[in-house]
Amino acid sequence: MSEGHILVTRDAGVLELRFNRPEKKNAITNAMYGALADAIVAAADDASIRAILFTAVGDFFTSGNDILDFAAIATGQAGEGPRHVGRFLEACIRAEKPLVAAVQGHAVGVGVTMLLHCDLVYIAESAKLTTPFIDLGVVPENASSLAMPARMGHARAFAMLGLGEPLVGAQAVAAGLVNAALPAGEVEARARASALALAKKPAEALRLTRKLMRDPGSLLARMHEESALFAERLQSEEARAAFAAFLTRR
Ligand code: COA
Repeated sequence: MSEGHILVTRDAGVLELRFNRPEKKNAITNAMYGALADAIVAAADDASIRAILFTAVGDFFTSGNDILDFAAIATGQAGEGPRHVGRFLEACIRAEKPLVAAVQGHAVGVGVTMLLHCDLVYIAESAKLTTPFIDLGVVPENASSLAMPARMGHARAFAMLGLGEPLVGAQAVAAGLVNAALPAGEVEARARASALALAKKPAEALRLTRKLMRDPGSLLARMHEESALFAERLQSEEARAAFAAFLTRR
């Protein structure tokens, strides 16, 4: 049930989207992507929403895309229904309202790349950010092959995307990916305070400023380029082997 796995609440102009699948480390299913995308798209036309805040339940922010979903696609068992991940990625890139993230625990894959499209990110000092796309036999997504080097420089971005090296807490601040590393228990309150402060700003001035600071056209073009390669790679022998290794690791 995606509704239960993504909790949607509103308070004082802030739309809060909370990952709530802690028993699976908040791995994101197709239905969860759908719920996220629907909420972000609806917020665009809702003048009462002035900022969006991502939060999570449990010790992980999110372990990224559900590997069972990847494996189902790789083995042709995913069924015919719509896939929502693209809508979610596009909604984050197209969003005109500020995005804030409270990363209270580890984040993997899309849990990291979504932060590249957030305007303010607060992270736990102990939280580890990893992007193991190559180890899974796929390529980076969410325009991260463009946005990550732009944000932190090629060397640091390649250490993450190429070697799979993590960034932990303060390292993510030093890399320019996040605003502050805090004790885990303080992350959400700090992020919420910032989201509430943004919600009180003159909305149109904020929208225009944010628009001037971003280049969604280039990001969308790269995102689509990556998505085509990603879809191809999901069918590759390298990816199949990686998913099978995860599913049989115990
Ligand atoms: N997709 C599907 N299930 C996942 C998952 C994911 N991305 N991440 C965690 N889970 C599930 C595990 O299968 C396990 O389920 P089970 O209890 O039914 O066996 C449960 O969540 C707890 O995870 P576990 O692996 O026992 O916790 P851990 O603390 O030892 O390790 C991770 C946590 C995130 C490091 C490890 O689960 C992992 O590597 N997950 C895959 C991350 C990934 O590659 N994501 C895709 C990025 S593109």
